[in-house]
Amino acid sequence: MELLFKKPSEKARETMANASFELGNRKRGNEYIKLAEESIKNFTAHEHSRVLCSGNAAIMVAMSNMEGPVMIPDQGGWSGFIKIAEFYGLKLIRVPTKMGVIDLEILKDHVKQKNPDSLFITSFAGYMAEQPVKEIYEICEDHEVIMVEDASGSVGDPLKNLACGDHAHIIVASTGYPKIVNVGNGGFISTNNPKVFEDAHYLIKTVKSSPVICAGLVEEIKKAPESLTKTLKACEFLKKEFKSEEIKSVLHPKKRGINIALSLDEPKLKARELRTKIRVKGGGMITVCPRYDRINQPAICLEIKNLDTQCLEKNNLREIVKIVEKTI
Ligand SMILES: Cc1ncc(COP(=O)(O)O)c(C=O)c1O
Repeated sequence: MELLFKKPSEKARETMANASFELGNRKRGNEYIKLAEESIKNFTAHEHSRVLCSGNAAIMVAMSNMEGPVMIPDQGGWSGFIKIAEFYGLKLIRVPTKMGVIDLEILKDHVKQKNPDSLFITSFAGYMAEQPVKEIYEICEDHEVIMVEDASGSVGDPLKNLACGDHAHIIVASTGYPKIVNVGNGGFISTNNPKVFEDAHYLIKTVKSSPVICAGLVEEIKKAPESLTKTLKACEFLKKEFKSEEIKSVLHPKKRGINIALSLDEPKLKARELRTKIRVKGGGMITVCPRYDRINQPAICLEIKNLDTQCLEKNNLREIVKIVEKTI
């Protein structure tokens, strides 16, 4: 079994190499930027978009407009939400979840009681379980809360449940690797509200991306639906394959996700062992929990999203299951 860490496609790398020869040509640079913004708008169905230097820069721009408290899930979010809210001196409110997934009744009560200005979520709690994004958005709409979806893991969702501007006031995403739009660097933000960009004009200028990244993004985003679909299918397959009694549980067995979280004791030790047995050329695929970005309990995550989709064939997936079941 040879597992490869995800890389930008050859086409994207070639396009970026060509764009790099045009650095300094302002007219061509602007064309690359416009093309990337159009691609993003096509995907998110929002009317306005900007390409930025990272996913965190996009969160920074989104939060720069906010005045009141920022609500986030108590686990399964992105640690950048916390760091950037602290940077702006914004109060944080953590809404209790079911292993990262937002419970709509709890959210409704919390929103009524705490009166946040915004809610920041990731499309998949900890990359492992789909959030009920449409329903969350409706609650936010009803209570005048700005809903920001971090769609780093979900651009190109074939079901259009996730990363869809019809049910997110603002979408942010990282296009660094290993992400679904895997340019290796950069990020983006999109919205229907032009005021978001007007108010953050100077910040956006400060954290804008280069035309080279824009050129790569145009190519990589085309591959997002296929890449996401293959990753989701591989995770669905894996969730069914794990049967060992030794594994206490595969978390969120029925939900769509792009990694697999396994609840277990001594996750650090097991992860160390697994890293020697499941080698990934160019990177890794094991995360140790508890951690805010995944889940607040002892567990390991198999980051299927990190793998080149060519490696996601059933034989490799069965082999991963065999190794994990023997090790744990
Ligand atoms: C869900 C999520 N959002 C945002 C980011 C930050 O992206 P960047 O590294 O491009 O700033 C990451 C990075 O891993 C992430 O996983």
